[in-house]
Amino acid sequence: MCAMAGAQLCVLLYLGASLCSGFTYGRFRRRPSEFPVTVQDHWFQQKLDHFNGADTRVWNQRYYVNDSFTKDNGPIFLMIGGEGTANPAWMTQGTWITYAEKLRALCFLLEHRFYGKSHPTENMSVDNLRYLSSQQALADLAHFQVVMTEKLGLGNRKWIVFGGSYPGCLAAWYRLKFPHLAHAAVASSAPVQAVLNFSEYLDVVQSSLARNHSGCPKMMKVASDTLIELLLYKENYEKITRDFNLCKPLEINSKMDLAFLLDTIAEYIMDIVQYNNDNREFEGVKNTNITIQVVCDIMANESWGSPYDRYVEVLHTIIKATQEKCIEASYQTYVQDMRDCRWEGAASTGGRQWMYQTCTEFGYFQSSDSTSQPFSGFPLSYHIQQCADIYCSEFNSSVVTAGIQQTNENYGGLNIQSSRTIFPNGLIDPWHALGINRSLSSDVVAIPMQDAAHCADMYPARIQEPPILPAVRKHIYELLTKWLQ
Ligand SMILES: *[C@@H]1O[C@H](CO)[C@@H](O)[C@H](O)[C@H]1NC(C)=O
Ligand SMILES: *[C@@H]1O[C@H](CO)[C@@H](O)[C@H](O)[C@H]1NC(C)=O
Ligand SMILES: *[C@@H]1O[C@H](CO)[C@@H](O)[C@H](O)[C@H]1NC(C)=O
Ligand SMILES: *[C@@H]1O[C@H](CO)[C@@H](O)[C@H](O)[C@H]1NC(C)=O
Ligand SMILES: *[C@@H]1O[C@H](CO)[C@@H](O)[C@H](O)[C@H]1NC(C)=O
Ligand SMILES: *[C@@H]1O[C@H](CO)[C@@H](O)[C@H](O)[C@H]1NC(C)=O
Ligand SMILES: *[C@@H]1O[C@H](CO)[C@@H](O)[C@H](O)[C@H]1NC(C)=O
Ligand SMILES: *[C@@H]1O[C@H](CO)[C@@H](O)[C@H](O)[C@H]1NC(C)=O
Repeated sequence: MCAMAGAQLCVLLYLGASLCSGFTYGRFRRRPSEFPVTVQDHWFQQKLDHFNGADTRVWNQRYYVNDSFTKDNGPIFLMIGGEGTANPAWMTQGTWITYAEKLRALCFLLEHRFYGKSHPTENMSVDNLRYLSSQQALADLAHFQVVMTEKLGLGNRKWIVFGGSYPGCLAAWYRLKFPHLAHAAVASSAPVQAVLNFSEYLDVVQSSLARNHSGCPKMMKVASDTLIELLLYKENYEKITRDFNLCKPLEINSKMDLAFLLDTIAEYIMDIVQYNNDNREFEGVKNTNITIQVVCDIMANESWGSPYDRYVEVLHTIIKATQEKCIEASYQTYVQDMRDCRWEGAASTGGRQWMYQTCTEFGYFQSSDSTSQPFSGFPLSYHIQQCADIYCSEFNSSVVTAGIQQTNENYGGLNIQSSRTIFPNGLIDPWHALGINRSLSSDVVAIPMQDAAHCADMYPARIQEPPILPAVRKHIYELLTKWLQ
């Protein structure tokens, strides 16, 4: 439909993420793209198009290896890269590494096509992005596995795939679609049901915000309503610019400008809820000390002034921890950055690619359309309009809906018919609303994690973590051990 948009100019931001971080919303920020850990890059010659045998074009896909634990007949562990630069910190840390040590596994991490340094095409023009899809990514995994098995003589060893968030879906779907290759899958916080209007996201944000102070969501609603009232009058723009430390003086010329500002501010809160108390520091994330507790302590504290003033204080606290200079809230700048199709473009570490995948495959749009949540001003239509503004004017709700339907037809959504797959889901995490929360059979096992956030089971253990996590990790380990027998 969008072939003519191949002519889209490569005009002109973003920070990257890997595995379980970054997959908050179509946007990426507060995520490092340069990682402190250095692990050697390896390159795999990958096919460009797995669904056209006559197309022989190839490209180099990045992967990492940890062969310190491997032993004859031990399993092969494959961590699936996601919508950001693959973070080599996972090669030495994380729960899967503790399993690998005990099970004597050989560990690989394969970066997802179009992210990080894995560039299948000359640039990310709309025309080239046709090769970006979960189906191509699964076929990449299969080709990688088959070629590596041959090359390294791994024929008699069982492969177990891991992933969190979108790669969690890929893990489950790889086992589903390539059962002859993947022996088992651990699909952490995987939103396996694609959906256009993901308004439940904010419903969960509301209930999670209430866990320590029952009045917190209400207070936040009062604050966000006050912001909307202030926005009615241009004479307040200077105050709002100052209060929220915006990078540029606030200018609102369209519905999209307004929605973008409100969405941007709300996303800071969503981010805190989604990753509450997760042990992500080893990935280079800086604001891990800002939790729901910290946010709601401020919202409940009258010494900060009105609810609006407390909300402003919350934002300052978050920005200070993330070490951002200011909040970029201009829709125009955002669209310009997202349209930049160069590999060195501002949104190239994941923003442009992931938004494309949401527009064509998943939706997952976190609209403020539900009434049981604190925010307003960024309806479903605003998210869909972004697909049109960034990639191709032909995107509209029916086009996006068709892609989502195809995804659910292909993988089965919540009705996935598979085996030897584990679905851990943190119940604080808004994404659990699209995940498997009840076991579907004796070996499609849901592990709901009380008090835990997004992909909490994957991170290194620590004292302050939700008390359920040690038992969750043990449960997963025991299932894998059983399935490997
Ligand atoms: C993007 O890459 C294609 C080749 O895949 C090339 O034809 C096109 O000119 C490039 N576009 C820009 C704007 O660089
Ligand atoms: C594999 O991970 C272990 C545990 O962190 C680490 O000690 C070892 O150096 C790693 N090996 C390689 C080859 O990276
Ligand atoms: C916050 O709420 C959770 C869940 O109810 C509880 O486990 C935790 O101890 C609370 N934190 C504080 C500081 O009260
Ligand atoms: C409220 O905030 C003030 C200023 O930071 C602080 O001194 C005070 O201890 C807080 N009160 C409570 C109940 O947390
Ligand atoms: C969080 O950590 C940052 C720096 O690591 C520090 O500046 C900030 O005061 C901390 N905030 C809270 C609320 O603990
Ligand atoms: C999105 O879902 C919410 C909750 O189900 C609903 O109230 C709202 O009308 C939906 N939005 C659209 C545009 O359909
Ligand atoms: C969306 O676009 C398609 C094709 O461009 C068109 O047929 C359809 O009527 C449009 N749907 C809506 C809801 O605008
Ligand atoms: C579990 O999923 C069902 C739908 O599949 C949903 O109705 C229910 O609310 C979910 N429970 C939790 C705790 O999320």
